[in-house]
Order: sequence, then structure tokens, then C-alpha cells
Amino acid sequence: MGKKLLIHNDRVPGIHTLDVYRAHGGYASVEKALKSMTPDQVTEEVKKSGLRGRGGAGFPTGMKWSFLAKPEGVPRYLVCNADESEPGTFKDRYLMEKIPHALIEGMITSSYALGANQSYIYIRGEYFYVARILETAIAEAYAAGWLGKNILGTNYSLELSVQVGGGAYICGEETALLESLEGKRGNPRIKPPFPAVAGLWGCPTVVNNVETIAAVCPIVMMGGEEYAKIGVGKSTGTKLISASGHINKPGVYEIELGLPVEEFIYSEEYCGGIRNGKKMKAVVAGGSSVPILPTELILKTAKGEPRLMTYESLADGGFQTGTMLGSGGFIVMDEDTSIVKNLFTFTRFYHHESCGQCSPCREGTGWMEKILKKILDGKGTLADVDLLWDIQSKIEGKTICPLGEAAAWPVAAALRHFKHEFEAYVKNPSSIKDVKHYYRLNNLVEA
Ligand SMILES: Cc1cc2nc3c(=O)[nH]c(=O)nc-3n(C[C@H](O)[C@H](O)[C@H](O)COP(=O)(O)O)c2cc1C
Repeated sequence: MGKKLLIHNDRVPGIHTLDVYRAHGGYASVEKALKSMTPDQVTEEVKKSGLRGRGGAGFPTGMKWSFLAKPEGVPRYLVCNADESEPGTFKDRYLMEKIPHALIEGMITSSYALGANQSYIYIRGEYFYVARILETAIAEAYAAGWLGKNILGTNYSLELSVQVGGGAYICGEETALLESLEGKRGNPRIKPPFPAVAGLWGCPTVVNNVETIAAVCPIVMMGGEEYAKIGVGKSTGTKLISASGHINKPGVYEIELGLPVEEFIYSEEYCGGIRNGKKMKAVVAGGSSVPILPTELILKTAKGEPRLMTYESLADGGFQTGTMLGSGGFIVMDEDTSIVKNLFTFTRFYHHESCGQCSPCREGTGWMEKILKKILDGKGTLADVDLLWDIQSKIEGKTICPLGEAAAWPVAAALRHFKHEFEAYVKNPSSIKDVKHYYRLNNLVEA
């Protein structure tokens, strides 16, 4: 049984309430930090812990915090990114829904470290019911004196609010999120300046993922060095994984980083193997944006070493033979899965969600969707397959924000590892099965 630090209490009846959460040791990190540590000491522990951002990029959290500008008389903000719109990712929702006080506790402890007196949780529009859960928990925390003026009789004060977004994937990108929080259209900003210097309303701001912020509580309680002993190398601590697809036990799992991928997929403790006794075909390991890998490459690296659930091991081999841990959205596909149909769904999503500011992303995602639809309609040519490769290669690195890459990488990886499936559909359109049913699911009509 792996160590659990974030959702160990998730099955305790009433854990969403302040009383039960407190009875299980909740808010101890706030007490410890505010009463016995300076803000810099909290940051120092986070640095020592090696915690890396759980929103997707894996940037070291302590380092990000230390970049925060601290000009005299200018407010600083902590903004929690609860937008969670990456297909295949639902771990933040689980944490907020089951244990909302774990996030609120993390917000207080982290805001104290950063010197923020007003913090926000920006949550995606579709999670309106989770926003209600958070608002109820925040009201409880205010009533009990964990939020508001002079928390625990100290001179530290914090106001915390929930802001519900409009349901746009782009608003998960941190600068688009800040625009949206300011009441504007969620268009990503050109960086620099980075939010640590000019973020919300032009003030120094840290944007962190829900899970990152919740992880600060166990770090403060156990100390950064102890936390860093969990995991492997630069992948320290535990990680929430949203497991979905053709597995026997889909759900949210907390794993110790370093767990072998094979154990995660096949052991009864986690995914419980592939549904209906089928063989596994491929895995998207870190949310829809990361490169898909065929079975042989997700279980073992190209060097033949067992692939581990770590930032480094999953990335081993670069994009030729590796992938990314990303947001931990682990989508497993069995032998009956059509990679072309799957890619079409992802691409359609990115086209729909592109904010439209940059032409390579706005136009490229649309053209990739059109070509994939043409192939699925049985009208594709081999030149279309080449064109698909060409278009994706012209998006990467040419956009203001990484949504362009998020759309291009899945196309590149599907072509890299499964080009034969695209070619087979083009050469033999009668092999394209169940496409009408598939279109109905996607609310589409056949051409
Ligand atoms: C298109 C796009 C969508 C994103 N969506 C999310 C999201 O839903 N949640 C999240 O935490 N980070 C998301 N990110 C990453 C954020 O920009 C940012 O890196 C992250 O919130 C930083 O938090 P962390 O350091 O704790 O990971 C997204 C990035 C892009 C480009």
C-alpha cells in the first residue's frame, strides 16, 4: 500500500465538514506555520520538499514562490488554478468535492508564505456544484476564525473567494485565467512579464494547481526533507492520478511517484488490468495533450528499463519514444480502440477551445480536424496523412501559449506510432467501422 498524503481521509463520513476535518488533524499546518514559522521558513520547506507543480508543467513550486516580487505597498496574490479542463483529468474535482478543507487549509498556509492577504480559487464553470461545496466550506472556515482578520490571534489576515469561470479550457492557462479573473475575455498574455512580477491587476501573483496547494499542508507538517524522501529523484512526494479508459477500476488514485507503470495498470490496488480480458493497445499518460505511447513503450523505455510514474521516466526518450506525466490524466486504450477516431475527438476539442489569438493554432487546429473527419468519412488520401504531419509541425513553438502544442503533440505522436492505422483507413475505407455511431456520440453528421 503506497503512502497517501492528500486523499487518505476521503472515505471518512462527513470529512467535507470543518468539524470532522478538524477531528482528523485538519488545519494543523495553518497552526504550525502561523504560530511557529516565518513565511520564508514555509517557503524554504516547500523548496526542500522538491514539490513540482501538479498542473502539468512540473515546475518546482518553491522556486516559483521565490520568484515572487515583493515591492513595498503593493498587494500580492495567490490564485488557485481549479480550471481542470484537460480531457482525462478529474483529480482536482475529486479532492475539492470530497475534502474541500484540504484545499482551503493549503490556501491559507501558502498565502501566509507568500504574504498574500487576498487569494482566489478560480474554478471551471462546469464544476458549479463543487464551487458550492467550496463556498460552504469557506463560510465554515470564516465562522471558525481560520479565515478573515487576525487568524488564530496573529497579525496575519486573509480573505479567500471562489470565482467560477465560464467553462473555457484556455482559462486554465495561467495568464488567460488572470484575464478572466479580472473580468475580461480569457486570452493568454504574452510573457514576460510573468505573473510573479505582473499578475492579477498588474500585481505580483503566484498561480498554482489545486493539488500543488493541498500538498503544502503535509510538507509543512512533516518537513520538506521528509517529504523529499518519498518518490524517486526529482519526482518527490505523491501524485493524484485520474485513471480512465478501458480498465477494470477507473478512478482517482494517489500514488507514490516512482511506482512502475505496469504495476499501476495491472495491480488490483490501482487500475486492476484491462477490461473484458482484452489486451492493452496504448496509453495517454498525462492528459490529452501529452504524446500517446503504444503498449511496448509505456511499459518499458526504449532502453528496456521499466517505465516509472515519474516526470523523468515518462519523459525518457523525448517525444520519439517517451511522453510526459503532465496533469496525471491516465487514459488507457484497449486493442479495439481506433487511434484515428480518438485523435479526431481530441483535435475537435482543441479546435473548439482555441482562443483564436494566434493563427497557427486557430487555423491549424481547424484544418487538422477537417482532415481527420475527411479520413473518417472514407474520403482521405495518403497526401492528407502527410498534410496532417505538416500542419502539426507548423504549430509547435509558434503560439503565445502552449495550447498550440497541446493540440499538435497528440497528432504528431499518433502519426509517429500509429501511422499504419491512418494509411489503412485511407487505403481501405470499408475498414472504418461504427463511424455513424461514433459521430452520433460526438454530435456530428456524416459528410
Ligand atoms: C491550455 C492550457 C490549459 C491549462 N489548464 C490547466 C488547468 O486546468 N489546471 C492547472 O492547474 N494548470 C493548467 N495549465 C497550466 C497553467 O498554465 C499553470 O502552469 C499551472 O496552473 C501552474 O500551477 P502549478 O505550478 O501548481 O502546476 C494549463 C496550461 C495550458 C497551456
